[in-house]
Amino acid sequence: MHNPLARNRVFVAGHRGLAGSAMLRCLQRAGCAGVITRTHAELDLTLSSQVEDFFSTEKPEYVFLCAAKVGGIMANSTRPAEFIHQNLAIQTNVIDASYRYGVKRLLFLGSSCIYPRDCPQPMRESYLLTGPLESTNRPYAVAKIAGIEMCWSYNRQYGTQFLAAMPTNLYGPNDNYHPEHSHVLPALLRRIHSAKLADDREVVVWGTGTVRREFLHSDDMASACLHLVSLPDEEFQALSSSTSEAPLVNIGCGEDLTVRELAELIAEIVGFRGQLVFDATKPDGTPRKLLDISRIRALGWQPAIPLRQGLESVYRLYAEQAASLT
Ligand SMILES: NC(=O)c1ccc[n+]([C@@H]2O[C@H](COP(=O)([O-])OP(=O)(O)OC[C@H]3O[C@@H](n4cnc5c(N)ncnc54)[C@H](OP(=O)(O)O)[C@@H]3O)[C@@H](O)[C@H]2O)c1
Repeated sequence: MHNPLARNRVFVAGHRGLAGSAMLRCLQRAGCAGVITRTHAELDLTLSSQVEDFFSTEKPEYVFLCAAKVGGIMANSTRPAEFIHQNLAIQTNVIDASYRYGVKRLLFLGSSCIYPRDCPQPMRESYLLTGPLESTNRPYAVAKIAGIEMCWSYNRQYGTQFLAAMPTNLYGPNDNYHPEHSHVLPALLRRIHSAKLADDREVVVWGTGTVRREFLHSDDMASACLHLVSLPDEEFQALSSSTSEAPLVNIGCGEDLTVRELAELIAEIVGFRGQLVFDATKPDGTPRKLLDISRIRALGWQPAIPLRQGLESVYRLYAEQAASLT
């Protein structure tokens, strides 16, 4: 496939994270020779002076903004000030510098928590700001909504081509398997794997197991982001320069499953033969979170990695890494 970014200077912010590392692999596979990266230690994106120096020296032409302060419910509820402050600072610095240094196109990553807590399902882009947000991660969601609004405002006032992409729950290489701070899929993978090694007879899963969630491999997310940024001018501008609709595109697989089905699938892949016990005294969260992906499908993208195949590949990686640590 022709890749319009192949000869350009492309900055992937947050290239060591789950989303950013997938973006980096995707661009490298697509033959992009001019990818620019900086670790958090080399460039703190919350500091405008450092961002300014970086943009004035490196002059990136395309930006994938995958850097963010990210965490689960616990981190979001105990450190809300850090979540709103750092995310607002990162995106404000990067989006504004991208405008001032003439970046051709920028893609800002958000997440499905920007949609109202009681959003109709599946969630369409037009449901943004139509109802109250889930309270546990409101500071994070508000920062992300401000990022979308900022892209939109810059497009309208300055004619920039900035787009916001909202991926569903991601999994893939470089996921966070921390015992207390990980999301549901890596947490289940870790616990079921440990239970298998310990020959445990059961694994307790939080909640009733009946809530439905959608999962996308991070490589699929990255291919969607590259697809969006590579769209021909006419299609890109139809998204970015509308005055009536935010420059926003959902990225998902269009299918969900219950947490019970997910746990059973992981147990099967891991080879755990014990029982899964669902602890209904623990919170379930929203009953369903599924993105409507008709917009990105209409633009010619679709996911390529079925959940079972994706889980098998991340489990292989996880088991190898876990074995090398013991
Ligand atoms: N994970 C998901 O399921 C998911 C789903 C939908 C959307 N997203 C979106 O994808 C984006 C990235 O999420 P992720 O899951 O990839 O998070 P992640 O794995 O935690 O990666 C975030 C990256 O950003 C870097 N970073 C954080 N603060 C920084 C700063 N001040 N300066 C420079 N770099 C900084 C981190 O570096 P350090 O680790 O060194 O701090 C890390 O490499 C977020 O916008 C998130 O909303 C994620």
